[in-house]
Amino acid sequence: MTHMFAFSALRGRRFSVRLSLIAAAVLVAGIAMLVGIDDAAAQQARPGVPIVTDPYGAVGGAVPGDALGNTSDAQFWRQIRRGAPGTVSIPNAQAGVLIRSEGDNWRAWRNGPVTVYGAWVLLGTIGLLALFFALRGRIRIDSGPSGRTVERFNGVERFAHWLTAVSFILLALTGLNLLYGRNTLLPVLGNEVFAVLTQAGKYVHNYVAFAFMAGLVIMFVLWVRDNLPNRYDLIWLAKGGGLFTKGVHPPSKKFNAGQKIIFWLVILGGLSLSLSGIALLFPFQFSFFAATFKVLNVFGLDLPTQLSPTMEMQLSQLWHAIVALFMIAVIMGHIYIGSIGMEGAFDAMGTGRVDENWAREHHSIWLEEVRQAGAGEGAERRQPAE
Ligand code: HEM
Repeated sequence: MTHMFAFSALRGRRFSVRLSLIAAAVLVAGIAMLVGIDDAAAQQARPGVPIVTDPYGAVGGAVPGDALGNTSDAQFWRQIRRGAPGTVSIPNAQAGVLIRSEGDNWRAWRNGPVTVYGAWVLLGTIGLLALFFALRGRIRIDSGPSGRTVERFNGVERFAHWLTAVSFILLALTGLNLLYGRNTLLPVLGNEVFAVLTQAGKYVHNYVAFAFMAGLVIMFVLWVRDNLPNRYDLIWLAKGGGLFTKGVHPPSKKFNAGQKIIFWLVILGGLSLSLSGIALLFPFQFSFFAATFKVLNVFGLDLPTQLSPTMEMQLSQLWHAIVALFMIAVIMGHIYIGSIGMEGAFDAMGTGRVDENWAREHHSIWLEEVRQAGAGEGAERRQPAE
């Protein structure tokens, strides 16, 4: 009995010790919390000492009375757009920028002037070609077809041309879909069909680009010599290439001045398209614009040479679209004159042989050269068209 009493007395004492320990801990925590709250309240209340240090805004930008926090609206949006250093704990400090002003500007340019003026340029070109066709009609072989032909482009030349041409047309169609599809095809085709088409188009665009680049290189090697300027070019240009008058066209070698312009636009425009396309295909790997601006600044310009990787991408996209739209307009003119616009022209790239009278009217010096070289000896006779 005595034992039992002693045991329960011991248990009671241990229990009260534990209780007092818990009470002490709660007391300490409570005091700590009170001190903490007090301290924060003191900071909030202390005038002129903002808790968030804003690297961009003035200290005086704090809202009076802290009714809306201690950051003014202007400071708040500045931080959202430029990022507040120190607030991002992951390695990518760019993630601290919640709204990119450059991105806003880029989208405004892409969906604004580039798209709108681009559409006007393309529709305007179609309109001008239609007007030219209506006024001038098909440019005929004035002396009629002779029935004798002369080789104009061999197999390798035609291969290079059609490789470049077919890939360019595929790139143009799939590229135009990326820029205009959402506003034109999507409402007609519906979401599912448009999504499948655009996804496939994107792959076509990415891969066919390499065929286009290969075509450009071969065409450049084959034709660069014949596209160097010579004295006949000025006469040809002065007479408007004879496009607006009937009769004999100004003399020219293998390529006339108009064709040389097309050639160089295709080569230089194609190079620029390729470089900006590669920058888009392999994101954030190149700084073509910073490098180009550095060169241009030598001529007294004051272009920025420190561009963020994102800005490089934005400029690549805008430039790619602008050059592509311009080239599509130029190539529409080329396709017109190489097909329905001029009798006898398509044969040059179709069969590789042209009628002698066509050659005399459009490339008189070249025809002479071919004859002198004896290359025209194999000229075939064929029945003139009835
Ligand atoms: C259906 C589309 C096309 C047709 C019918 C066409 C037709 C022709 C023809 C007939 C010629 C030879 C002209 C001559 O005998 O002097 C030619 C030349 C040429 N083509 Fe095309 N072409 C087409 C598309 C393209 C495309 C897409 C490009 C480049 C992106 C291109 C670039 C060239 C170049 C650089 C030349 C040599 C310079 C010139 O004649 O203007 N062609 N084309």
